[in-house]
Amino acid sequence: MDRKKITPVDLQTMKNEGKKFSMLTAYDYPMALLEDRAGIEVILVGDSLGMTVLGYENTIPVTMEEMIHHTKAVTRGSKYALIIGDMPFMSYNTSEQDAIYNAGRFMKEGKADAIKLEGGVSVKEIVRAIVKAGIPVMGHIGLTPQTISMLGGFKVQGKDAQAAQKIIDDALELEDAGAFSVLLEAVPAPIAQKVTERLKVPTIGIGAGVHCDGQVLVVHDMLGLFDRFTPKFAKRYVNLSEQMLKAFDAYREDVLKGVFPTDQHSFHIDEKELGKVK
Ligand code: KIV
Repeated sequence: MDRKKITPVDLQTMKNEGKKFSMLTAYDYPMALLEDRAGIEVILVGDSLGMTVLGYENTIPVTMEEMIHHTKAVTRGSKYALIIGDMPFMSYNTSEQDAIYNAGRFMKEGKADAIKLEGGVSVKEIVRAIVKAGIPVMGHIGLTPQTISMLGGFKVQGKDAQAAQKIIDDALELEDAGAFSVLLEAVPAPIAQKVTERLKVPTIGIGAGVHCDGQVLVVHDMLGLFDRFTPKFAKRYVNLSEQMLKAFDAYREDVLKGVFPTDQHSFHIDEKELGKVK
């Protein structure tokens, strides 16, 4: 297959031509390798890694160092996908200068192609400043996990006319600030459809219905590797936890019974040489 590296311009072309694209999170080299091999167009090194990989309660404690460490592993594993680094809490909210510096770290150290950050009108000028510095930005509105306590928990956003209008206005402001795409999380499908129709740039949905230009899932949700809670919108394609548990049980049983390793898994030495060993 003749493949080339995906860029934000390619996503725009796909939207213009009415073609959908897929996005998944990845946090390490083997996952990135497989997603890239499967042809996933966009890989997000999401700050969800705080919960799925690092075992934090939520995404608030995730640091820049942790994000850069994992972004480096993902970019080593992927050749074709567009790689997006997720700006962690307080890495862009303090000042435009901090935001540009930290976004730059994702590109220079992590070798990411773009960054994502949460918020609408409130981060508009920060988005504008990062884009002006030459870094492509994906916006993220609707349910924004970094401000979960202000939103009153993990729940669908934009349920009344005023809140729905705010989502549409936020999306338009992000586009105006130069965002190359806008991610919509836990937004009623008809509102996501309106946003997708009103924006020139592509939308990516998670719990935002089928009309978005692209879809994203947290890879641990779709593989059945995270069961602390499963959002309504997460489709589980396989239950890897179950398969891994079976493999761990079988291995332990083999070791306890002494049936692993077998001859096939062992190294040998010439009988003559062995005879010389006291
Ligand atoms: O951090 C993350 O995984 C996200 C999801 C919306 C995909 O932002």
